[in-house]
Amino acid sequence: MAADAVYDEIADWYEEEFLAGLRSGAAEGDPLELRRLLRELLGEGRGTCLEIGCGTGVHAPGLRELGWTPVGVDLSAAMLRHATGRLPAARADAERLPVRDGSVDAVLAMMVHTDMPGYPAVVREATRVLRPGGVFVHVGVHPCFCGGFADRADPDALVIRPGYLDGHWTKDSWNDNGVRDKVGAHHWPLPALLGMFLDAGLVFERFGEGGRPVPIALAARARKGAA
Ligand SMILES: C[S@@+](CC[C@H](N)C(=O)[O-])C[C@H]1O[C@@H](n2cnc3c(N)ncnc32)[C@H](O)[C@@H]1O
Repeated sequence: MAADAVYDEIADWYEEEFLAGLRSGAAEGDPLELRRLLRELLGEGRGTCLEIGCGTGVHAPGLRELGWTPVGVDLSAAMLRHATGRLPAARADAERLPVRDGSVDAVLAMMVHTDMPGYPAVVREATRVLRPGGVFVHVGVHPCFCGGFADRADPDALVIRPGYLDGHWTKDSWNDNGVRDKVGAHHWPLPALLGMFLDAGLVFERFGEGGRPVPIALAARARKGAA
């Protein structure tokens, strides 16, 4: 069962301030290199791409540029209000998608896993709705270099404190202009995160990292086997 729609409280801030850089299209507005990761991990394609946790729909234009037809689901009605006009989207829990088995060509989970305590169930559910041969693209904060245990305040020296192995929810953050300090974030160590895809029966095809000098985002593309 998913958590409450905590993004309802911060939806306007998220769209107007947090996403301002990314929406500007400038390279410096995309420090996690999300656009590059989307291009390299998902790539060009045809058919429906379901974005789970689509939020305000900021990635919909990028999906269209790659040839995909974006649709979205999100738990937060306030986030979805900003998505109007960007993509068709429904209010739904990613753990119980209102989507038929094997009916979508691609699933995108962009910067959501730390908001989903049930991410293992979300990955299984995404696999259920993918057609055989369809791809699941995950882009999320890097579990090794981001989290309550990671202090990124000094650009020349990332400090990793104890906590990486614990797997926990926290609002602890080195800054006050991100998401974690406002709504909290879940953390999975790398083997646990990657294991979710294997447990769902997906086959990894490609990995990527974004952000410099120490990566901030980790991305993976995995495919559902042909029937
Ligand atoms: C950090 S935002 C990312 C939004 C968008 N993907 C982006 O990159 O801007 C996380 C989103 O996940 C949504 N979310 C969290 N848990 C969810 C769930 N169980 N089902 C659907 N959406 C969920 C939140 O409401 C929020 O809009």
